[in-house]
Amino acid sequence: MSDNKVYRASTTAPVNIAVIKYWGKRDPKLNLPTNSSLSVTLSQSDLRTHTTASCSPKFTYEDSLLLNGSPQDVSGARTQACFRELRALRKKIEAENPSIPPLSTYPLNIVSENNFPTAAGLASSAAGFAALVRAIADLYELPSSPTELSRIARQGSGSACRSLFGGYVGWEMGSAVDGSDSVAYEVAPASHWPNMRALILVVSAAKKGVSSTTGMQTTVATSALFPARANEVVPRRMKEMEKAIAAKDFETFGKVTMRDSNGFHATCLDTEPPIFYMNDVSRAAIRIVEGINNAAGKTIAAYTFDAGPNAVIYYLEENEKAVAGLFKAMLGAKEGWGGNRGVAVPVNDEAMVKV
Ligand code: ADP
Ligand code: DP6
Ligand code: CO
Repeated sequence: MSDNKVYRASTTAPVNIAVIKYWGKRDPKLNLPTNSSLSVTLSQSDLRTHTTASCSPKFTYEDSLLLNGSPQDVSGARTQACFRELRALRKKIEAENPSIPPLSTYPLNIVSENNFPTAAGLASSAAGFAALVRAIADLYELPSSPTELSRIARQGSGSACRSLFGGYVGWEMGSAVDGSDSVAYEVAPASHWPNMRALILVVSAAKKGVSSTTGMQTTVATSALFPARANEVVPRRMKEMEKAIAAKDFETFGKVTMRDSNGFHATCLDTEPPIFYMNDVSRAAIRIVEGINNAAGKTIAAYTFDAGPNAVIYYLEENEKAVAGLFKAMLGAKEGWGGNRGVAVPVNDEAMVKV
């Protein structure tokens, strides 16, 4: 009797927004970073990727990926690395259990939707590859730990390794040449500092002009500021940030977050040709945060920008009115922020949801 079944698993994955940024690869093939990084995983209530992975012996086509309704090229080394690693883990289980179906030999069909702008500096590659890896791991019924899956997701997109964990998450750059120790780890669960909030300001949903992958490789190759950032500044900030999170010290958390975002964008400007991810609206958001903090007499709001113009503003729930309230009052009034594009989201407790 031939197996005509379609095997299927679905998952949703959250975005994570770094407070100490990853920007630079020491090994582009294995996607190994030049520095460690640290992020906060956001709630899936507003920004998430939903991915379904299926496979079947009756699929006649090759492996495929449909993203937001458009077919994607899966022949790239990064997607291929994820498929290869996950298939190898499944093959091992199949070898030990000859009675289970040989899913590793069937074509994979991945269908993914982001409910937020793709390639606009809101970490779509992070949620996207975390969801892709988790959906296939679930399809293959792999017993893999989040750490092991983070090692695989890292090869799809570096920032994706951090979306395998909830709460406050580090990505250890590692030192092994094969990348085996370049994985994500939990710094603290969301419950440690549950009143943390992130306000997402979608300044532009347009696709960025320079992808993160290309941008960071050009920065490493040309920026004179970059070596000091990777070798001295970030290692120091990683320690400061881990301490601030352990102590729930928002003042330090916020100051280091803003300095690191600005330092990262300074290396972009120092790249040849220069890369501009922030725009006038981004800079206006920075000024407003400065105004909020000056009025409060302390740091109660902290902005950060990924590789795009969109602002993420961290604050504590008790300062909702002074931070999110003020921004929301201004939304629509300020050109470029239009409508109700500002959403406030809590830190996520659960990294991945099986659906
Ligand atoms: P972002 O700032 O959104 O992370 P990047 O330049 O890092 O932008 O990456 C964008 C790319 O990530 C997309 O062009 C696509 O190749 C990939 N990507 C985004 N979402 C998904 C997804 N859900 N599944 C698979 N790949 C995705
Ligand atoms: C600015 O993880 O998107 O968001 O590994 O080439 O896919 P690739 O890059 P990606 O870079 C993220 C850069 C960042 C900072 C961060 O998330 O740490
Ligand atoms: Co990305």
